[in-house]
Amino acid sequence: MSQLVQRAGGLPGLEAVIVTFYDAVLRDPMIGYLFARADRGRLIRTETELAARLLGATDVRYSGRPLPALHAPLRLTGGHFDRRTQLLREAMAAHDLPDDVQAAWLEHVTDMRPHLIAAADDCGPEAGRVVPAGTGRRLMIHASDPKGPDGRP
Ligand code: HEM
Repeated sequence: MSQLVQRAGGLPGLEAVIVTFYDAVLRDPMIGYLFARADRGRLIRTETELAARLLGATDVRYSGRPLPALHAPLRLTGGHFDRRTQLLREAMAAHDLPDDVQAAWLEHVTDMRPHLIAAADDCGPEAGRVVPAGTGRRLMIHASDPKGPDGRP
């Protein structure tokens, strides 16, 4: 068991965070619908194993499916991903996880981002930002769309 996992309260501590997290995810108006047919017990078990691995545990095995192939058919957007990350952040804070445990967990989540969302759906770091008027910069509607919002290239 790694230091970080121990300081998160071991596997029971991680599982408690994951239970809070999925309670929020499953009823969330933005992403909850995606989980309509998912098996809650399985999600909690596999996410707990994964979190332990991400935090350095070598004596825990991830028994779930490979994540990129599992998420590809969902055609996830950057918005879906960011909403899930926010709910995870809130669940970690609700359980008072130490700051360095939270930071390490979130770092791994961020690393997985490009592997789990549909590439063409992510507009990059500019997406969703308010661009100040008159700067000459334009928001891209879609990463693969060569035209601007007004239909002109
Ligand atoms: C780093 C980010 C993510 C991680 C670590 C993660 C992890 C997982 C894990 C461990 C499972 C269960 C694996 C299994 O059943 O074998 C799962 C399933 C699932 N995930 Fe994610 N996920 C991530 C991002 C997302 C996002 C952003 C969404 C949508 C908002 C999402 C939606 C789903 C759904 C709907 C399932 C159930 C699919 C099914 O049972 O067919 N995931 N995820």
